[in-house]
Amino acid sequence: MAPAQRIPLPDRRSLTMVERVERARQFAEEMALRRTVRHFSSEPVPPEIIRSCLRAAGRAPSGANRQPWHFAVVRDPATKRRIRLGAEVEERAFYETRAPKDWLEALEPLGTDWHKPFLEDAPYLIVIFVKAYRLTANGSRVKHYYATESVGIATGVLITGLHHAGLATLTHTPSPMGFLNEILDRPAHERPFLVLVTGLPAAGATVPDLEKKPFDQFVSFH
Ligand SMILES: Cc1cc2nc3c(=O)[nH]c(=O)nc-3n(C[C@H](O)[C@H](O)[C@H](O)COP(=O)(O)O)c2cc1C
Repeated sequence: MAPAQRIPLPDRRSLTMVERVERARQFAEEMALRRTVRHFSSEPVPPEIIRSCLRAAGRAPSGANRQPWHFAVVRDPATKRRIRLGAEVEERAFYETRAPKDWLEALEPLGTDWHKPFLEDAPYLIVIFVKAYRLTANGSRVKHYYATESVGIATGVLITGLHHAGLATLTHTPSPMGFLNEILDRPAHERPFLVLVTGLPAAGATVPDLEKKPFDQFVSFH
């Protein structure tokens, strides 16, 4: 393929360095308030918020610009119910028989179990799929590169955007997630990545008091 035509970089040069320092500081403060919420209100949330945040996620970097993601936004109560029932079958088997002891121990501080009422309570379930390849009109495959990494980055942008907009999210990974392809009618070469439960927290919602690593334990400068 020939190189793409070149265009000027969208202009970000007008910021002063002082402004950049301040924006970075404010952003870190805002992100320190992000927490995973497991009790959602059923209060409706305008779809424009979800659309804007998805637009932002769709601009994430991706291996060779293949954009190997699909976001299925679920609002329909009957579909949410089917997803809850599908997830609870898997999660019940996980908690009661499949999960290794050390995994259950790691989950203990979070207080989670196989019941997933939030899958019906929250106004949106954003089900994210990783596409291993794209099918062209004539049925041939266009390979995707670093698909999982790319979708992880796009998901991070989405979580960050939703938090910035003042919404709460829960990153949910029922295991295995094949039932999502069937319910959402997605093709077999799209692998469910995770379910992002999205909405407002229930009144009085609490979160576990978790320790976060101090800066120097997860960053090194060289
Ligand atoms: C890839 C991934 C999968 C997760 N899966 C679940 C899940 O299935 N259920 C759940 O309650 N939380 C899940 N979480 C949320 C984590 O438990 C949570 O991020 C972690 O405990 C830290 O809490 P915080 O997000 O409030 O800082 C998941 C998070 C990630 C990043």
